[in-house]
Amino acid sequence: MSAPPLNPALFHLDREHLWVMHCSEGPVPRATLRVVRAFMHKELRPWEVRWQEDFQGIPAAVRAEAAALLGGRPEDISLSPSTSTGLVTVAQGFPWLPGDEVLAPLGEFPSNAWPWLALKARGVAFREVPLWEGHQSGADAWSSRPPRADADPEARLIAALGPRTRILALSWVRFQDGLKLDLQRLGNACRERGVHLVVDGIQAAGTVPVDLAGLSAFASGGHKGLLAPQGMGFLWTDEGFRQALAPSGTWLSVEQATDFSRPSTDFARAWLPDGRALEPGGPNLLQASALLESLRLINGAGVPAIAAHVATLQARLLEALKPSAWAGECDRLQGLLEAGRLGSFLALHHEGGGAGRLEAVLKAGFRQGIFASVREGYLRVAFHGFHTEADVARIADWLGGAAG
Ligand SMILES: Cc1ncc(COP(=O)(O)O)c(C=O)c1O
Repeated sequence: MSAPPLNPALFHLDREHLWVMHCSEGPVPRATLRVVRAFMHKELRPWEVRWQEDFQGIPAAVRAEAAALLGGRPEDISLSPSTSTGLVTVAQGFPWLPGDEVLAPLGEFPSNAWPWLALKARGVAFREVPLWEGHQSGADAWSSRPPRADADPEARLIAALGPRTRILALSWVRFQDGLKLDLQRLGNACRERGVHLVVDGIQAAGTVPVDLAGLSAFASGGHKGLLAPQGMGFLWTDEGFRQALAPSGTWLSVEQATDFSRPSTDFARAWLPDGRALEPGGPNLLQASALLESLRLINGAGVPAIAAHVATLQARLLEALKPSAWAGECDRLQGLLEAGRLGSFLALHHEGGGAGRLEAVLKAGFRQGIFASVREGYLRVAFHGFHTEADVARIADWLGGAAG
């Protein structure tokens, strides 16, 4: 197997910490620490913070790198502190009419439910669609059957689009079961019906190549697969869709906002046509410089190379676990992997063993210095571009010996 696309030495990872949980929180590359430190040194001496190079240059560079990651245009990117704020910006800015509806898959991460549920007072309904037979969520999440390769979740979503559906809002890769949805198929179906596809992309950004065709919006925080600290991400919006959204209304969302030769109190200005109109105000330069460094690293390695590497590691782990108590789950996940249905993490279902089973397995991992995570009935093992075959062997030993 060739070298990992991201050199593990770029991260502060050691033998005691095999980190397979960037689906919760990604490790930040060492270079990001250097960049943030350097920026804080400038903040100590504010006369060193440059207007064009820093105040305008850092956000512009992040927009450009985010656009490169998505295969889009920098002018369609808005810096946004998190996935949630990106989705809230869309939810609050959309021109709703009473009786409109937002459709979503059953069991979305709350970031993609509360922004829509908050619209109830404006007469907007939020409707969830089960994605496969036996799919459950909420209080019954642990009783859900897991998804299999023969499920057709897109068909269920498309069939559920109704005359009042204005937005289909979904996670590209789901946070608990790890299922990846087919955005192009959904995007085409939405466009044909005049519905907007709004994507929570955080569980895929940085590890799955993006195709924006057919999408109206794509939001991601930077702290998972994008390997940046919490607190900075971005929102991409299709130009036409953005024109329909209310601007955020900050002092920086208008033309000539920073041209101080014109009085700032002259409010006879147009809103900016680009993504800056949706940004939350003065940029968080510290966070932006951190995200910039991480994005440069990921774009340098190339998301397709990272995705291919992750898929190879996933296949190796499933192969190695076949003779173990996880055989049934290996078959199911192999089917999903071969069908192109997985993002960067393998979600092993508890198979009736309940929280106790997964907790015991997780703790056995912690004792061996392996850090995975559990969500709603699934043990999540997440690979990225810096993991190695030796990591896979350690995980196979752990899981093979710990059926729970
Ligand atoms: C699918 C999904 N969306 C959103 C989030 C949270 O995103 P943020 O904190 O950037 O709002 C998570 C975090 O676990 C997630 O898994």
